[in-house]
Amino acid sequence: MSALKVLMVFGLFEFSFGLSGRFWHITDLHWDPTYKLGNDPGQVCASSGNRPASNAGTYGDYVCDSPWELILSSLSAMKAISPDPDFIIWTGDDTPHVPNEQLGEEGVLEIINNLSHAINELFPDTKVYSALGNHDFHPKNQLPASFHNIYNVTTELWKPWLQLESQETFRHGGFYTENLLNRTGYRMIVLNTNLYYDQNKATEGIEDPAGQFTWADRILTEAANNKEKVYIIGHIPPGFFEKKRSKPWFTAEFNKAYVKLIQKHHAVVLGQFFGHHHTDSFRMMYSSDGSPISTIFLTPGVTPWKTTLPGVSDGANNPGIRLFEYDTQTLVVKDIVTYYMNLTFSNQVQERWEKEYRLTESFRVPDASPLSMNKVLERMAQDDCYLQKYYEYNSVSYDLTACDKDCRVDHVCAAREVDFSRYEHCLEKEAAVFTCGGFLPFLSVFLCLVLNAYL
Ligand SMILES: *[C@@H]1O[C@H](CO)[C@@H](O)[C@H](O)[C@H]1NC(C)=O
Ligand SMILES: *[C@@H]1O[C@H](CO)[C@@H](O)[C@H](O)[C@H]1NC(C)=O
Ligand SMILES: *[C@@H]1O[C@H](CO)[C@@H](O)[C@H](O)[C@H]1NC(C)=O
Ligand SMILES: *[C@@H]1O[C@H](CO)[C@@H](O)[C@H](O)[C@H]1NC(C)=O
Ligand SMILES: [Zn+2]
Ligand SMILES: [Zn+2]
Repeated sequence: MSALKVLMVFGLFEFSFGLSGRFWHITDLHWDPTYKLGNDPGQVCASSGNRPASNAGTYGDYVCDSPWELILSSLSAMKAISPDPDFIIWTGDDTPHVPNEQLGEEGVLEIINNLSHAINELFPDTKVYSALGNHDFHPKNQLPASFHNIYNVTTELWKPWLQLESQETFRHGGFYTENLLNRTGYRMIVLNTNLYYDQNKATEGIEDPAGQFTWADRILTEAANNKEKVYIIGHIPPGFFEKKRSKPWFTAEFNKAYVKLIQKHHAVVLGQFFGHHHTDSFRMMYSSDGSPISTIFLTPGVTPWKTTLPGVSDGANNPGIRLFEYDTQTLVVKDIVTYYMNLTFSNQVQERWEKEYRLTESFRVPDASPLSMNKVLERMAQDDCYLQKYYEYNSVSYDLTACDKDCRVDHVCAAREVDFSRYEHCLEKEAAVFTCGGFLPFLSVFLCLVLNAYL
């Protein structure tokens, strides 16, 4: 692997002081080993499902999952931008969107193996906290509630990153917990939320698959008793997809149980980090009296793959990677910097990663605490230009069209309400709100461009 390759990265070299630490979050790499240039556009990659890859280039195409070049480019960009993070979180979905028969268990494991090696090779001294995605299994989505060969082999692959006790729980359910950075008082919980996916037949009818809820409740109770601070990571988040109305991932019961878990233990949970959407978004969670208590940060994917989910139009994204800045004493998330590759530009001109935005600059909040993220949400709901900016970042600057009235409701309600019935209620309430953006979409995008340039 050519780590020495010269890589252009814009917006580098920022310094931070004090108790500030940083970590990378990468997710949804979805490597497609069949990606091959020179083929007929319908045959460039198996993951396009015969959709024409008409702009296929070295770094990929918007209808394809990631070629190896894009995987390497992303990892090299991380290495160039912040080579020595405190840790890396990697939240799964390693394999391409292809029918089960085209992968098999061996195919899935080989892909996890190659990606794990690539990350370990570039960051040999960095702790990686790694979660399985719904695509990291054969057949896809069917992650079981007990010991499985795929859990066992993955445990072997991830041994450099797992303590002994973690290996034990991972083999039997794909989850684990460890002290964060091996420091007393700080904890990472890596969940296997694929167990809660409504497409997962293997856990259907089980009240608490693999005992993970009971386990997490115990770990968080102990964390509170020991005055620990905790981050939670996983692949599939609770709540709704912001690009398709009323589309959740968890079953109703599992969604409820997850919300209950966080409401009970929010005092020790300083951040939740998930993937699966391939988009850049966040979810708020509130206490029963309505104060913001926790944020789920959704990091965009590396794969640009345009989703085939019915009802989503033009659901592709540019490849993104994300650096979190946090207070190493309090674990409060201080800032988020998203870097991205303009796939079109990189294919046409030159491989390039650039800073897309820094949360505190672009959204004008002091940090990424629940209080600040709630302010971001409420301004999105009220200010069309602010919403438009969020919307463009949502697809990692791929879809620059106007976020209209329906779009506003979808994004605001998905971010505000993780609970099923509260979400439906939000849809009704927000649909009745008057905003200008719905009427003059094109004019408003233009005005926002002008305004944002001066604000
Ligand atoms: C993936 O790993 C296998 C087995 O280690 C190896 O033969 C293959 O060359 C690797 N592929 C890439 C693209 O690194
Ligand atoms: C799990 O993997 C280990 C190491 O490869 C192997 O020795 C063991 O037999 C496996 N366990 C089962 C039950 O397959
Ligand atoms: C973690 O801490 C324990 C006890 O404090 C120590 O024995 C162990 O070597 C540490 N592990 C790492 C990877 O630093
Ligand atoms: C991405 O690159 C293409 C080709 O250079 C350019 O037309 C487009 O405006 C760029 N997109 C963004 C968001 O900068
Ligand atoms: Zn994915
Ligand atoms: Zn997924």
